[in-house]
Amino acid sequence: MHKKVDIGVLVSGSGSNLQSLINHIESGKLDAEIKIVVSNNPDAYALERCRNHHIPFSVIEHRQYASREEFDRRLIDALNSVGTELVVMAGFMRILSSEFFKAFPLRIMNIHPALLPAFPGTHVQKKALDYGVKFSGCTVHFAEEGVDTGPIIIQSAVPVYDDDSDDTLAERILREEHRIYPQAIQFYAEGRLKIDGRRVLIIDNPGPSDSVLHNPPLERF
Ligand code: GRF
Repeated sequence: MHKKVDIGVLVSGSGSNLQSLINHIESGKLDAEIKIVVSNNPDAYALERCRNHHIPFSVIEHRQYASREEFDRRLIDALNSVGTELVVMAGFMRILSSEFFKAFPLRIMNIHPALLPAFPGTHVQKKALDYGVKFSGCTVHFAEEGVDTGPIIIQSAVPVYDDDSDDTLAERILREEHRIYPQAIQFYAEGRLKIDGRRVLIIDNPGPSDSVLHNPPLERF
């Protein structure tokens, strides 16, 4: 039996990924305990979710700190004070300094609403639509210095439809985010992630089925 992983979740906004983690913990599928949620935004709806589920949270407003490093030091202290083993970035909209990454080496995960390394940064559903890709999706990866880089743990591909808007595509992607983030954290809790350079191998995973996705579907070939 593995032990539960103690996580600290960083949020800035709605917190639907946080909610998915809470739900999977409460239903016994995810072996994790949320020791603290930290938001840089006092108005984040994620905080309401914490209140509803009696999860400890802390608001650390970046504006109140003179430098990025000072803000990051407060974050590190808040996370360490409750024994955070794994930092989970869930819609956290601040860029972190090297000090932060040094404090939690290969112990920070991030989720991104595109198939990295395509479309890093923000407004990526629009960028995917504008580019004309036939698939987009989401990525959970270990975070390291650099925006949306770091070894990839799991990805989910979703089709882009001809009549998609930014919103309909974002919604389809978000539904998958809510599935792959708990799975990535559960792999971690079970000690099944083996990092080999840029590649993350999942120990004892049956591997992908041999089905291939096409969008649009092939008709004659
Ligand atoms: C998600 O799309 C996540 O991938 C991105 O920000 C959004 C956060 O959504 N980094 P929520 O706050 O979890 O609802």
